[in-house]
Amino acid sequence: MEGGELINHNLQTTLIPSGGSSIVEFRCEIPGNYILVDHSIFRTFNKGTLGILKIEGEPNKTIYSGQLDDRIYQGEGGTVQNMPVEAKGPAKLLTKDERIAAGKATFASTCQACHQADGNGIPGAFPPLAGSDYFKGNPSKIIYTVTHGLSGAITVKGKAYNGVMPTQTLSDEEVANVVTYVLNSFGNGGGEVTPAQVSAIRKAGPATATK
Ligand code: HEC
Repeated sequence: MEGGELINHNLQTTLIPSGGSSIVEFRCEIPGNYILVDHSIFRTFNKGTLGILKIEGEPNKTIYSGQLDDRIYQGEGGTVQNMPVEAKGPAKLLTKDERIAAGKATFASTCQACHQADGNGIPGAFPPLAGSDYFKGNPSKIIYTVTHGLSGAITVKGKAYNGVMPTQTLSDEEVANVVTYVLNSFGNGGGEVTPAQVSAIRKAGPATATK
């Protein structure tokens, strides 16, 4: 019961008000990655506000056969929100190591909610950056993805994805840092990207992505 002493059992849906909280005891019969989204007011799913419940164990096949709907849940329906634009300071000249360190922080605050700390993503929802063949040998593609967003069918490491990544509102400097971090992490092949390269791709648009 909301705010009362009576404990509800076998409840399917309840409302947790904004700023409120709830303690829920439940049993899960099917292992997997359960993506938790704010369904109440803001639905900031596309800004990376989500939780993931990773459940391991033996599945109870009589409850769920394992057949997935191939479409991705779009928390905001057809509307993709953009990150708020903030005034950015002047670009700084960084060494490659400084770039990687700064990029690591940007990754943690901007990319990690979806692509995960280990860069492995979430099967069926967020593609991996670890060993991704999508941008291998072509850093323009990752720069383009971050500056313009990405949607539609793509294949990464042999698995199909068809989701929406919103445009990330980051300065050229921040994009150069986070891309350099990704290229030098998760077993990827290395490399360095400069703010000038980011600026050129930001202006040139889609043509650069496919080359
Ligand atoms: C809100 C979730 C979300 C956030 C935040 C996000 N991405 Fe993505 N990203 C996606 C989705 C979904 C796709 C697949 C889009 C599609 O299917 O066309 C994707 C695709 C990609 C790809 C191309 C596929 C691959 O795995 O190589 C790259 C590269 C990428 N993202 C990098 C980043 C970087 C770097 C950041 C942070 C600056 C970031 N993403 C932030 C959801 C996100």
